[in-house]
Amino acid sequence: MLKRNIAVGLDIGTTKVCVVVAEKDEIGKLNVLGKGRSNSDGLQRATVVNINKTVDAIKAAIADAERESSIRIRGVNVGISGAHVNCIHSNSEISVNQTGIVNESDVRRFLEKAKTNIKYLDIDHEIIHVIPQEFIVDDQDGVLDPIGMAGTTMRGSAYIVVGLRTKIRNIKQCIEKAGLEASALTFEPVASGIAVMKESEKKSGVVVIDIGGGTTEVAIYIDGAIRYSEVIKVAANDVTHDVAHGVKALHEVAEELKIRHGYAYSKMLGEDETILIPGIEGRPQKSFPKSSLVMIIEARMMEIFELVRDSIKRSGYYEYLNAGAIITGGGALIPGTEELARDVLGLDVRIGYPEGVSGGIKGSVNNPMYATVMGLVAHSLQNSMFEDPQVMQVVESSSGVVEEQAQAKETSSEKVRAGTAIEGNKNLVDRLKKFWEQL
Ligand SMILES: Nc1ncnc2c1ncn2[C@@H]1O[C@H](COP(=O)(O)OP(=O)(O)OP(=O)(O)O)[C@@H](O)[C@H]1O
Ligand SMILES: [Mg+2]
Repeated sequence: MLKRNIAVGLDIGTTKVCVVVAEKDEIGKLNVLGKGRSNSDGLQRATVVNINKTVDAIKAAIADAERESSIRIRGVNVGISGAHVNCIHSNSEISVNQTGIVNESDVRRFLEKAKTNIKYLDIDHEIIHVIPQEFIVDDQDGVLDPIGMAGTTMRGSAYIVVGLRTKIRNIKQCIEKAGLEASALTFEPVASGIAVMKESEKKSGVVVIDIGGGTTEVAIYIDGAIRYSEVIKVAANDVTHDVAHGVKALHEVAEELKIRHGYAYSKMLGEDETILIPGIEGRPQKSFPKSSLVMIIEARMMEIFELVRDSIKRSGYYEYLNAGAIITGGGALIPGTEELARDVLGLDVRIGYPEGVSGGIKGSVNNPMYATVMGLVAHSLQNSMFEDPQVMQVVESSSGVVEEQAQAKETSSEKVRAGTAIEGNKNLVDRLKKFWEQL
């Protein structure tokens, strides 16, 4: 019997629900075992508005991923986003334990204290994440990983992500109704950042911009830690909506026009041409200049980047973004996005694809649209010690998981032991170190 550590990410997006099952290979890269995807129309701007539609979409995506990976899914790391999510900086200070060497329980105490130090968390909100930013051990500042350092006091700050209880409960309800367990919730900009950032960028200062269908998420990393995040309620579906309105066409037609002929930046358009647009319900087809289509798209994409620029300026970190910006999410796929963003933001820009994927069905996730789900699965496999265990242990026979499913069926109504948390067999310090590296 082989034991495998497998994690599952579930991104419930405004346009698609998407699931990835992956395990870590020997060199720490992600081996993607299965992916599932279904269209989502139970959300508005990343917030659940129809439970049943969302549950159906989750079930469909999970079924695909289970089929492809031959793994029965139960525990998932679920992405959470929406304008209701806010971040609070909280300071904390503790005395180091009697040995004078910082250990993981000191760090836990530090984070607990950071939580209790939040003064204005009302009963409508709950904490999603507590992310340490940096520590000061005695007089040594800028410490990202304090474990093993000698000192008597440890102070510093934590980044606390909070969301509206009701919205979080809706997500959890969808997960339960789909027969799953939310082993962790991860703020989506954090997940997208994990997937697309290189270590050097995170250290130099970078903003990750995820342009989804309903929301544009901004996350700023400076000196290796997250410093600021914001969810903006304008995104790539607004571009489609504008095209439908400008061209007077159905939403599906506008979506196709955007994807087939669209540019985000009119400077990128070569010679103009005429596009034929199918008429609605038997009306005659009409023609439309491509340059006009591009102007419509450019106007909205420019607005998105202006809002992002305002957000970055508001954060106070604009001047510190030495590595510039990474743009990801499906909205990054409109040609010309990189060039437009460079001009509007005044930063160096690249498009972010999921990094650190070694094999399996690698090709099918190599798309900015899968940055969030790949970050969710990577986050689970990096295995934070501050959250519930998220990595599942699947026991596989030498002839594969499929046989294990059959075997499990004989012994239990649960198909396989996916979802069983690993306990006690992890080196906590290693896990902690990985946690520092990832945030
Ligand atoms: N090839 C493409 N060219 C241009 N735009 C594209 C392409 N593929 C997808 N998009 C756009 O990307 C958007 C969806 O992006 P994504 O899948 O990241 O959103 P989501 O995660 O469902 O939404 P959100 O993150 O806002 O909840 C849609 O507006 C879609 O039109
Ligand atoms: Mg998304």
